[in-house]
Amino acid sequence: MQEQLERAAALLARARRVTVLTGAGVSTDSGIPDFRGPQGVWTRNPEAERLSSYQAYRDDPEVRRESWRQRAAHPVWSARPGPAHEALVALERSGRLRALLTQNIDELHQAAGSAPERVVELHGTVHRTRCLSCGALAPMSEALDRVAAGEEDPPCPDCGGILKSATISFGQALDLDVLRRAQDAAQDCDVLLVVGSSLGVHPAAGLVDVAAAAGADVVIVNAEPTPYDDVATVVLRGGAGELLPRILGGG
Ligand code: APR
Repeated sequence: MQEQLERAAALLARARRVTVLTGAGVSTDSGIPDFRGPQGVWTRNPEAERLSSYQAYRDDPEVRRESWRQRAAHPVWSARPGPAHEALVALERSGRLRALLTQNIDELHQAAGSAPERVVELHGTVHRTRCLSCGALAPMSEALDRVAAGEEDPPCPDCGGILKSATISFGQALDLDVLRRAQDAAQDCDVLLVVGSSLGVHPAAGLVDVAAAAGADVVIVNAEPTPYDDVATVVLRGGAGELLPRILGGG
């Protein structure tokens, strides 16, 4: 491991442009469970993954009521950024961050100090709601206040449509502008640093191939193997909070 750590640190030290791709594994230290790790949400309850589809949410009021209950109780509301988030802020302040692409919806990168204009939220954010009919965006806190006051499935205050978190669920397409920004950043970097993702969901996972095809070195920091480990220049098996500070010069 020490040799791999030194190789990763050397690649990152001489990189002029680093694009980062993060997944749920950077937020587990903050108390937010991942999806497919040993204690993941889908690992523990495969049925939950099926219910998390866009179609189930749109068509089944009971799925929406359960979703609102889960949103209200979600650990994200009390989560604080951890050492992995902070190490990525340090990378940005060194002037070498091309973009921070995240699959996470918790906004912990921004809470840690990552510049919002540098963060590309591939799967949206749980901190806002979007109406499925008129598209109106609003703070999630407003809808959660209504849930706390007894509304089990609060409709859009503007048009009465179905409200959902402003996230991308299975069956929903990513915002094309967001995807283009992510692809541009993957093509325009010396190193793609992947942290805390099982790299099993596309198009996010495909960004690794985009970067590698453009000649970037790929560094993967993850607790478990991923399908892209053989594409990577370096793979570090372990905790993001412990490893990132060591390879980004902060630790
Ligand atoms: N340090 C390093 N790796 C970790 C840590 C940690 N502290 N904690 C968990 N991991 C690893 C897990 O072993 C797992 O391989 O992070 C990975 C997280 O993978 P997933 O749970 O699949 O999360 P992610 O890759 O972000 O999922 C992608 O799938 O469910 C959808 O839209 C959702 O954005 C999500 C997407």
